[in-house]
Amino acid sequence: MSDLISALQAIVGEPHVLADADLRSGYESDWTGRWHGESLAVVRPADAGEVAAVLRTCADHHVAVVTQGGNTGLVGGATPDDRSPEIVLSMRRLDSLGDVDPALMQVACGAGVTLARLQQAAGDAGLQAGLDLAARDSATVGGLVACNAGGLQAIRYGTARRRIAGLEAVLADGTVVSRMSGLRKDNAGYDLASLLIGSEGTLGVITGVLWSLVPRFSDRSLALVAVDSVSEAVDAARALLGRLPSLELLEFLDEASIRISLEQLSGTPPAPITPAWLLVGCASSGDAQEELAEALVESGLDERAVIAVDAIRRQRLLSIRESLTEVIAAAGVPHKFDVGVPLGALASFMDELPGVVADVAPTARTFVYGHLGDGNLHVNLLGPDPDDESADEAVLQLAARSGGTITAEHGVGRHKPQYLSLVRSDAEIAAMWAIKRALDPEGILNPGVILA
Ligand code: MLT
Ligand code: ZN
Repeated sequence: MSDLISALQAIVGEPHVLADADLRSGYESDWTGRWHGESLAVVRPADAGEVAAVLRTCADHHVAVVTQGGNTGLVGGATPDDRSPEIVLSMRRLDSLGDVDPALMQVACGAGVTLARLQQAAGDAGLQAGLDLAARDSATVGGLVACNAGGLQAIRYGTARRRIAGLEAVLADGTVVSRMSGLRKDNAGYDLASLLIGSEGTLGVITGVLWSLVPRFSDRSLALVAVDSVSEAVDAARALLGRLPSLELLEFLDEASIRISLEQLSGTPPAPITPAWLLVGCASSGDAQEELAEALVESGLDERAVIAVDAIRRQRLLSIRESLTEVIAAAGVPHKFDVGVPLGALASFMDELPGVVADVAPTARTFVYGHLGDGNLHVNLLGPDPDDESADEAVLQLAARSGGTITAEHGVGRHKPQYLSLVRSDAEIAAMWAIKRALDPEGILNPGVILA
């Protein structure tokens, strides 16, 4: 062990190997408080060369590597566990950010660049990142890509996968692979970048990416639509999806979420509290407010809608949705889900959910919000013990029975490997194992994540 620490110190420098328990602790729990573990040390490399040397050293010492960016993940995928000796590889020092290429609309980012910084750089160049989520100030590009993050604007620009024009990574044996030419078309063999996107640190360590930006629209608009049922919310979503090309955001909050969020805001609610609210956002080079207002009239939703007339009111509406993750976590250790359900099955999923939860966790408080336009709902349960998996199993089985997925955006992490077979066949899981063994034969990269 002291051999390992000295070898790591020789690679990254003594101040960047945190072996003391107090210094490690912030890296050893996720912020929901549900996932914890102990590591031998937290190692903070500065570049891909140092990452490669750290991986080689860990392989020599039979020590596993848990890669961590901003530690904003929600499935324990960046948290060590106590099953094998592990180090945490913190990527935050890889924070170089290149110049935006305005013609190709690309920018090179180190894995440790935060989303907020990328968004700022994109904005300064008259473009936007094409990905947004509430954890933007801490979440890093490497983590977003490793988890194929979705967020608030995926309905328009897709998930992180769509934003990647190039990628550099270190494989388990310390080999650096890099495809950062920025070519828009390149069919030379297997696409390793695609394989690494969404692999949650189990196939390689992403050290940098070429991020593909999107145009910034001059005008934005946001409306809150208060509806009387989940099926009305789904009908409204369908109507808007079909007739609003400038749609950039389509979010859902159930009544429990509306209430808990409003509790921490002062002033009168912006709309009557009904069984569900939708937030509908547009971004356009024309008149976004007019486009949104017209679509609301055509969809018969205008009388239930409040349009935010300026940026301050827009931000106030958005914060009702964005604050939910923190507000719920402040009330207890939540069991969090990011299920995906086809729009056609979403109302029956929501009808069945209370009974399914009540059967196994009768006193649980349930909150549902999420990215309705993508069929991606965040079910949050407060009450069950963090180690009690019965409600998790019940909710994920319901998602699978509804024709959906156990994870639409947060990933499998340490939370869901035992549920993968609900939505992936034996043949698919066997193929995943074959890939894992080929790229990480010693199993040192994030063991226990995705594949148990
Ligand atoms: C969100 O959409 O707010 C995030 O995925 C985080 C969460 O699920 O709470
Ligand atoms: Zn989300």
